[in-house]
Amino acid sequence: MKDQKRIRYSKYIDKITTAEMAATFIQPKDVLGVSGFTKAGDSKTVLPCVAQRGYKENLQLTVISGASLGYDTDADLAKSGALLKRLPFQADPTLRKSIDTHQLFYVDQHLGQTAEILQNLQTKIDVAIIEAVAITKEGYIVPTTSVGNSATFTEMAEKIIIEINTSFPENLEGIHDIKLQKPQPNREIIPITQSSDRIGTPYIKIDPHKVAAIVFTKVPDAPARIASPDANTQAIAKHILNFLENEVALGRLTPSLLPLQAGIGKTANAILSGFVHSNFENLTMYSEVLQDSTFELFDAGKLKFASASSITVSEECFEKVFTNFEKYKDKLVLRPQNISNSPEVIRRLGIIGINTAIEFDIYGNVNSTHITGTKMMNGIGGSGDFARNGYLSVFVCPSISKNDTISHIVPMVSHTDHTEHDVDVLVTEQGLADLRGLAPRERAKLIIENCAHPIYKSELKTYFERASKFGGQTPHLLEEALSWHQRLKLHGTMKKVKQQVASH
Ligand code: COA
Repeated sequence: MKDQKRIRYSKYIDKITTAEMAATFIQPKDVLGVSGFTKAGDSKTVLPCVAQRGYKENLQLTVISGASLGYDTDADLAKSGALLKRLPFQADPTLRKSIDTHQLFYVDQHLGQTAEILQNLQTKIDVAIIEAVAITKEGYIVPTTSVGNSATFTEMAEKIIIEINTSFPENLEGIHDIKLQKPQPNREIIPITQSSDRIGTPYIKIDPHKVAAIVFTKVPDAPARIASPDANTQAIAKHILNFLENEVALGRLTPSLLPLQAGIGKTANAILSGFVHSNFENLTMYSEVLQDSTFELFDAGKLKFASASSITVSEECFEKVFTNFEKYKDKLVLRPQNISNSPEVIRRLGIIGINTAIEFDIYGNVNSTHITGTKMMNGIGGSGDFARNGYLSVFVCPSISKNDTISHIVPMVSHTDHTEHDVDVLVTEQGLADLRGLAPRERAKLIIENCAHPIYKSELKTYFERASKFGGQTPHLLEEALSWHQRLKLHGTMKKVKQQVASH
């Protein structure tokens, strides 16, 4: 069989089986460590079979991944009742609903920290399910489009199931750079001083005795949903580009800037696309996920090198990249997520991190994860790793949405993921607030003036003025601070309804 050539370690040949059979290695209360990061490089057949078992059996699995899984895997795991706990990230509406209705527990972690937490807690991983493009002659795993936490999972797992995906070209081999971190106090320095540095091996070294099953699949990664830039994202991109051009003019940055990180979602992708028409050149990325915009920047000759933990692209871009992979190969590296998101490396390289907020408040605190304070959106992902440790932490979002009923700038965020101390620059389509070196009261004035939408601006101003009468480093009217969210919940809009206006 032609596909078997991808297994260069002959002792594995008798491990080849079907996905259904491989799924039977999983016991009802197992802890699974699975490959997959923002829909890339995940298990396309074994884990979906495990999810199906959930409809017939009482499973209480803990599923730990790199980040979100593709297709309906997360949804089916949730719907079938197979999950007790999910971590460290998710982005699926069905799973999200199950989390909010208390069908399962979700642990929302900084993606750079999961491997370290597993090591520190000496978590027992029963089975690791890892997607591979090939197996080396030593029996080691060559991953596909993501690395995530796979090396940590295989190191800590009792059993390993390998899923060889022949939809990826074999020449993907060589883009990975795998290095395991030792637990504290024996941690070593991560010697990465530029995005392109390599410090490890192009495969995940495993103990071949742990391999329980090998299956084949041809299913490609689930495509990313990419929205074309719209008026809002174009305006946000323009503000960021002007700001960075000014930083260059002031001599704080050079035209190649510092390595860029861009968060997930349509907004961040559209903003990065904006760099295609900028004056910047020889750009580099040290990010977590590479989306379509990365390849647009390569094609435009703007980007020199990109490092990340996964490649998550649209169907169209997937075709372009993987049928011409040699064109991009020497410009890419995929790393474990505790290295792509390592605070040490992010601080050393001086990353410019651009992430998307759900909302931010007048003092610069950012909510990235919760809708009106309680309901889960996606998770913090790597935004905290980059925001806390980068050279410049930029958060973006539209000033208003849903027919003006939501202001994304509020008196107080309903959930805090990034505190004012980790946020340097806020941007909406209205403008940009450079908060560096400003005190809370200075920040409030600038954020309201530059970022808020005119519909909500005067109410934010009066809130700040009334709160300031009572003094305080960070003035608030506690009884009113979350009233905008309360209005949204009760009346479907953050705008004051007539009755409320009359009683004030
Ligand atoms: N109040 C109520 N709903 C809100 C809201 C608010 N303040 N802000 C956003 N939403 C809703 C949107 O209306 C939309 O809902 P819909 O799907 O029903 O239309 C949904 O949340 C997502 O918003 P969207 O505008 O589609 O944003 P996006 O695709 O740019 O993603 C985040 C924005 C914040 C969800 C996304 O960037 C994220 O998950 N961030 C956290 C992880 C992260 O930053 N990782 C970065 C390292 S890779």
